[in-house]
Amino acid sequence: MEVKSLVEPDRVHKSVYTDPAIFEREMERIWERIWVYCGHESQVPEPGDYHAVQIGRQPMIMVRQADGRVNVLHNRCPHRGVQLVGNLKGNTGQSFVCSYHAWSFWLDGSVRAIPLAKGYENTRLTRENPDCQVKRAARVDSYRGFVFASLAADGPSLAEFLGEAKVAFDDMCDRSPAGEVEVVPVCHRVVQHSNWKFFMENQLDALHPSVTHQSTGISAARVEKRLKAQGTTPPLYYHMLSAFASSFEQWDAVQTINFPRGHGILKAYMGLRPQDPDTLAYEALLKAAYGEQKTEEYLSRSIHHVLVYPYLSVQSPLQQLRCLRPISPDKTLSEIWHFRLKGAPEAIYRRSLWYYNLVNSPATMINADDLENWTKGQRGLESDGGDWVSFHRWHGDDRVEDGVTYSNHGTSEAVMRSQFQAWSTYMA
Ligand code: FES
Repeated sequence: MEVKSLVEPDRVHKSVYTDPAIFEREMERIWERIWVYCGHESQVPEPGDYHAVQIGRQPMIMVRQADGRVNVLHNRCPHRGVQLVGNLKGNTGQSFVCSYHAWSFWLDGSVRAIPLAKGYENTRLTRENPDCQVKRAARVDSYRGFVFASLAADGPSLAEFLGEAKVAFDDMCDRSPAGEVEVVPVCHRVVQHSNWKFFMENQLDALHPSVTHQSTGISAARVEKRLKAQGTTPPLYYHMLSAFASSFEQWDAVQTINFPRGHGILKAYMGLRPQDPDTLAYEALLKAAYGEQKTEEYLSRSIHHVLVYPYLSVQSPLQQLRCLRPISPDKTLSEIWHFRLKGAPEAIYRRSLWYYNLVNSPATMINADDLENWTKGQRGLESDGGDWVSFHRWHGDDRVEDGVTYSNHGTSEAVMRSQFQAWSTYMA
């Protein structure tokens, strides 16, 4: 079946979630060409610090070089192909030393030493030969400390690729009085037993929370109500959970904005500016740094999630970032990170941590419910019970301006339609 026949304006064929040949083509035409998020600069603060990262099917290493720049190398020794690092992260010192025959390489990938060099004399192998260097990602760039790499030498710049979705990083950093964030250096790593598209669709699917997360939301709302009746102000973390049980009318009032390349925004629906002493002290720091007007501008951006299609969900107001690394049609690794706002009080960091633990951790009731849906979704699509996946909701009702689709209903499946438009373009 031709790839273009698998995507129709209001439905897609199930094989885009299940077919190994389509998955391979996605790796080749999407992941191994576009800009892929590698990590935050603060993950590798010192020369020699590295993080292993997967770009498409390629194991790579993000490493801080001696000159302070961040480089992205293939995790492969040029001698006989053994991976240069086996750990997820660490410090390799001045060079990478292969564990097989001890060839060593500087942090920029150039060869440092080849032991027992006599054996290579009068052969085609010389130190100057490019085959002797660790291969680098074709392009590496960063935006506000977030590092991306592309394995394609040509193509749009990082700024062009991100487009309007760069607001994810602006919104996160602007909330810091220092204009910067710093990674909390441990992430949750979860393998979901489903195609990566389930996650990306789910992020902006405002139809599901009141169903999937109903029990958690209602339970939290009950506690909130009881505390209020007792004259106590409920801590913000109850609101983080009770908001999931908003009514369908409330969800329908939340707009999604869908950009070219499949990126998108779900507008804000939670109240994150309680007038408690911690929040007021934090806002005073922002005002001292940016002035009244800018502070208001920064804190009133209407964002819940920003999606960088096809692999990133950034919840900038709470400094959360989730990144997908597809493994196979029915397996996807997600890395779940959170960040500190540099210069902000500890109490504000605790909110980020609460959200991380209460909503995004695989141990929470929220993420666990989603993971169950996606597993069941994958199994359903692998069955012979039907061929098509429906994205008909509010089809034809959205507003399109300059290539951007604004949903008139929060529960519109405009999000999925927009993502598949981008997918078709990439795959063609
Ligand atoms: Fe790396 Fe031989 S495979 S030194």
